[in-house]
Amino acid sequence: MDKIIIEGGRPLHGTIKVSGAKNAALPLMAAAILAPGVHVLHNVPDLRDTRTMLKLLASFGIKWQWREADQALLLDATTIDNVEASYDLVKTMRASVLVLGPLLARMGRARVSLPGGCAIGARPIDFHIQGLARLGVVSTLESGYVEGSVDGRLKGNSIYFDIPSVTGTENLLMAAALAEGVTEIKNAAREPEIGNLIDMLTGMGARIDGRDTDCLVVRGVKKLRPAEATIIPDRIETGTYLIAAAATGGELTVTACNPGHLDALFEKLRTAGVEVTVGRNQISVCRRQPLKSVDIKTLPYPGFPTDLQAQIMALMCLGNGLSVITETIFENRFMHVAELRRMGANIKVDGHSAIVKGVGSLTGAPVMATDLRASASLVIAALAAQGETEISRVYHLDRGYDNLVGKLVGVGAVIRREAEQND
Ligand code: EPU
Repeated sequence: MDKIIIEGGRPLHGTIKVSGAKNAALPLMAAAILAPGVHVLHNVPDLRDTRTMLKLLASFGIKWQWREADQALLLDATTIDNVEASYDLVKTMRASVLVLGPLLARMGRARVSLPGGCAIGARPIDFHIQGLARLGVVSTLESGYVEGSVDGRLKGNSIYFDIPSVTGTENLLMAAALAEGVTEIKNAAREPEIGNLIDMLTGMGARIDGRDTDCLVVRGVKKLRPAEATIIPDRIETGTYLIAAAATGGELTVTACNPGHLDALFEKLRTAGVEVTVGRNQISVCRRQPLKSVDIKTLPYPGFPTDLQAQIMALMCLGNGLSVITETIFENRFMHVAELRRMGANIKVDGHSAIVKGVGSLTGAPVMATDLRASASLVIAALAAQGETEISRVYHLDRGYDNLVGKLVGVGAVIRREAEQND
């Protein structure tokens, strides 16, 4: 296993080009299952999770090819000869559950390993299963696998989510696209990645109304055709680099991004005293003054994203007062707190809130990455800290950040990756 070593205390300066969004690439890749033929995806990030999704699709019989000329991923879903998503693959990536809806819609059957818990909480998939049951899927749980089947075509119905679920909404959209009749998804999630999926499905011939709202109406069609689609820029990667620049007191421009997806972050950064300049598809930040502490509460989109909670906490460790950070999406997403404390942070966890008392500066220390976004917060803390930080278990970062080390080196960070000897 590799580790990352960061010599901190250097402001970031320059420009970083953001990659395609992991959480958009995964559902769009899964959507290829729905229609035979060759789908073309642009701006697919090179990540451990997208590679896992490719392995999963290949295990169903889908062939893929990377077209160098225009950096496009080609997915040939002409033949599907297996409908089982094995535990080996699902256990490394919860988003594997995204194949459930499309497999059932196209093949009438699917056997998908139950993802189980993960570092940030229990994360059940009951909404997915209940929603699919409303469309006529009969499912059982056997030997750790969800086995679903449908008699004939799926049937449109009305579905209501108790809590807006991102992958739940995506799974049901994909299933409903091929169902007979109309499906209404109420209290649907509104994350931009869902809009990206709707655009791809529409390109495949699906009929979906209500994009960007919490009520989606899908008029099912008998057949879909392959599509060409472009993955939207990664708003979480964008936010991570902006926060890193603010933490180091630097000046950074992030390009190829969509500023419209990050209003909640800009509001907080500006309140904290960071200058934010928004262009059409680029954002610049600059910090010239001490950081003010601000309170943060994570919420479904367009609220402050849970996927940036750990990173903003690293920033707030450097604030001038008290910051209360409340996590409302996942019950156990404070794994980074103990590691940030090792770097001198003063944080107390009280239920769903972390009370962060700003300290003048952090100090480098050996720390351990525990999940994807927690790892990103440690990178930010390490970039701002005095001295050297060694972050172990960086495979978590590889799941969601395309070329993180290279991008940070390009803006002046002193950061390197090494193979860990005895892990
Ligand atoms: N929930 C249930 N039952 C379900 C589904 C969800 O109780 O069947 C609960 C969850 O436990 C959570 C809430 O509903 O408390 C919302 O979870 P959601 O289903 O929206 O999360 P997800 O779809 O599993 C996606 C992202 C996550 C991101 C969340 C929230 C993908 C592949 N993953 O997960 O991304 O944190 O939405 O925005 O899109 C990450 O990239 O680091 C990451 C964890």
